[in-house]
Amino acid sequence: MSARYADALAAVAADVDATIGTLLEKNSGGSAADADVVNLWAAMRYAALAGGKRLRPFLVVSAAEICGGQLDLSLRVAAAVEMMHTYSLVHDDLPAMDDDNLRRGQPTVHKKFDEATAILAGDALLTMAFEVLADPATHPDSLIRAELVLGLARAGGPEGMAGGQLLDLAAERHPVYQDDAIMRLQSMKTGALFAWSCEAGAVLAGAGETERNHLREFGVNYGLAFQITDDILDEIGDAVETGKTVGKDQVRGKATFVSRHGLEGARVIACRHIQIAVANLDFFGQKADLLRDAAESLIDRRV
Ligand code: IPE
Ligand code: IPE
Ligand code: MG
Ligand code: MG
Ligand code: MG
Repeated sequence: MSARYADALAAVAADVDATIGTLLEKNSGGSAADADVVNLWAAMRYAALAGGKRLRPFLVVSAAEICGGQLDLSLRVAAAVEMMHTYSLVHDDLPAMDDDNLRRGQPTVHKKFDEATAILAGDALLTMAFEVLADPATHPDSLIRAELVLGLARAGGPEGMAGGQLLDLAAERHPVYQDDAIMRLQSMKTGALFAWSCEAGAVLAGAGETERNHLREFGVNYGLAFQITDDILDEIGDAVETGKTVGKDQVRGKATFVSRHGLEGARVIACRHIQIAVANLDFFGQKADLLRDAAESLIDRRV
């Protein structure tokens, strides 16, 4: 990871943590009459403020920046996408899905609280993501806000993350052997949200179609490379470093390029997507150096 990318990622992470902290602090002071609702807010904060690399926020902010967008507005969009992502992790870890006990280096939400609270904390984070986008504080132009809401809904819905997560689970029972089926599953469950994060930066900045298309394609391919490297780390990574249980994909029979092509084969496919991602940045010249570094850093990621 280049030093300039590490610094930029850390800066966005600090800013987005502060933004999410403010959005989720409303009911932390015991102002809600109902103690159980206070507990729901606590579970949401537990999930959303426990670290996490904040890669999707970084992509929103960087894409907006290269298209001339404002940082304070992009941080709200970044917070919204991170809330959506965090909800997906809380639900991904549930017993009915991947049944995991460790996330971001701490017990998963259903272990720390209980299953019903984890389901509802996920629901609430997902719903709040749209509340944040639709709020006039996110952008003065209601058409841009509507476009952001539409884009996030598509990225998270049946043609995006939710559909991809379903295919991921179904493949445990009905093994998937085709590369294009694995690619489709992974683009839906992971690529769609990364693609939207990049495109959202462009939408927010009022960029044209060409900018949007290049950023979306960058995001799709970054997302695919990211999921493949996640699958590689599941096999060779370290639970302390990654903050999650490793070695589970093989046990559960997940459909991945690692299971189909082995570690080296999966690396080759990841590198191919990194190259396609980076090629889409040529249009932006040096302005896209940080995004270029972000994509290239996937090659040797440890977390
Ligand atoms: C994990 O995402 C889920 C996948 C799409 C593989 P991240 O690796 O971005 O998780 P955090 O946000 O850093 O915890
Ligand atoms: C999850 O993929 C993708 C999501 C949409 C949450 P994984 O199931 O491989 O993610 P981890 O390894 O649990 O973070
Ligand atoms: Mg999963
Ligand atoms: Mg999982
Ligand atoms: Mg994984």
